[in-house]
Amino acid sequence: MPATSMDQLVSLCKRRGFIFQNADIYGGLQGVYDYGPLGVELKNNLKAAWWRSMVYERDDIEGLDAAILTNQKVLHYSGHEDTFSDPMTDCRKCKGRFRADHIKDGKCPNCGSTDLTEPRPFNLMFKTNIGPVDDGSSFGYLRPETAQAIFTQFKNVVDSTSRKLPFGIAQIGKSFRNEITPRNFIFRVREFEQAELEYFVMPGEDEKWHEIWKEARIKWWEEQGLKREHMNIYTTPKDDLAHYAKACYDIEYQFPHGMEELEGIANRTDYDLGNHTKAQEEMNLTSHCHKNPDSTQKLCIMSDDNKWVVPFVIEPSMGVDRGVLAVMTEAYTEEDLGGGNSRVVLKLKKHLAPIKVAVIPLKKNNEQIMAKCHEIKQNLLKLGIGRVALENTGNIGKAYRRHDEVGTPLCITVDFETIENQPESVTVRDRDTMEQTRVNVADLPNYLRNYFVE
Ligand code: GAP
Repeated sequence: MPATSMDQLVSLCKRRGFIFQNADIYGGLQGVYDYGPLGVELKNNLKAAWWRSMVYERDDIEGLDAAILTNQKVLHYSGHEDTFSDPMTDCRKCKGRFRADHIKDGKCPNCGSTDLTEPRPFNLMFKTNIGPVDDGSSFGYLRPETAQAIFTQFKNVVDSTSRKLPFGIAQIGKSFRNEITPRNFIFRVREFEQAELEYFVMPGEDEKWHEIWKEARIKWWEEQGLKREHMNIYTTPKDDLAHYAKACYDIEYQFPHGMEELEGIANRTDYDLGNHTKAQEEMNLTSHCHKNPDSTQKLCIMSDDNKWVVPFVIEPSMGVDRGVLAVMTEAYTEEDLGGGNSRVVLKLKKHLAPIKVAVIPLKKNNEQIMAKCHEIKQNLLKLGIGRVALENTGNIGKAYRRHDEVGTPLCITVDFETIENQPESVTVRDRDTMEQTRVNVADLPNYLRNYFVE
């Protein structure tokens, strides 16, 4: 098991403003969390790293940002209305409700009773009324995955970008699932974010691409700081596959509560495009579940040998919240400094750190020093490296400890030497080594550019 416990992370998250329970002042809303001042930065940085690797660094992937509210027909033809459920069981004694597949030894996790109902399917989608008339006929859903809009917008993206196979569409956004038992902090929640790629390939090339994406995604997680030995690749048994998948790998991570799924990489075949397509009988589909008299489009693309084909889809789908939990678990370190002293350091990769640089005055409320701090901050912001924080607490030791705890890679201290001597210089302190280097103020932009730009 990892050295980091969930209690340590939950405590740090609240204390330093990463993650708070939603509606805390009213007793909370179960399975829903809010990201605080530092959490929003960390989450944005993780999403930016994903977007950069998927969309900017490649030439075969386009982006999309589709709506959360979803037309009922989309989730009917995708198969989610029929099959997107978990088995639920009730305890007759304490009236608790649980996921049947999470029950151990046939005992209620709440009271230990063995008097449990037979499992029955519970659909996880949030249904909502759309429009002013609440008569049950005009409803939609909050999307349970971001993927469906990528499929329904497939033709528009292909037509507007002239793409050929293979190519992908990437999207980051909120998804909602009415989990029976949300648990383990932000690991299993009812409102969460996904970063999903649907990568469209020629039928027959799907298995090759499935392997390629598995390797690419493991490498990406390593670049976010996760050690390979803390990850496991789980091949989903055929009987446990989602209704749309022919095969699936899970990248699992050693979370504080155990080795669990961080990202799924599924081979969705032509299932989704096939189900959303009209005139299915003309399309040579290998897999679909519904006849579709409602769709107005054939979701296909011209192959190199001038035939219309419904592509197969490889889907790497990561949970952003689980990603945040994983990188924090990996980065959390308690160091013994000797002499009874210790420190907590969040050894995040620098591109993920919520605050990149803290500018700290040696003396609180000293006008000259503060003016220099402001000037340095403004100049550093121009580098576009992310958040530069300005402190005015007057306690250097405390400021260093605080920034160690939230993962700030560099602290710049402005002291009397800075303003009294020429050339002006500051102390730059490294989070991990705690080494301090004197750097001329004029050289700071270059110093930081070299440090942050990889
Ligand atoms: N489009 C495919 C799809 O949604 P999934 O395995 O159900 O597949 C993908 O979800 C990822 O979304 C998971 O690997 C996980 O990281 C994240 N995820 C799923 N349910 C979640 C929940 N209730 N809370 C937090 N993250 C969740």
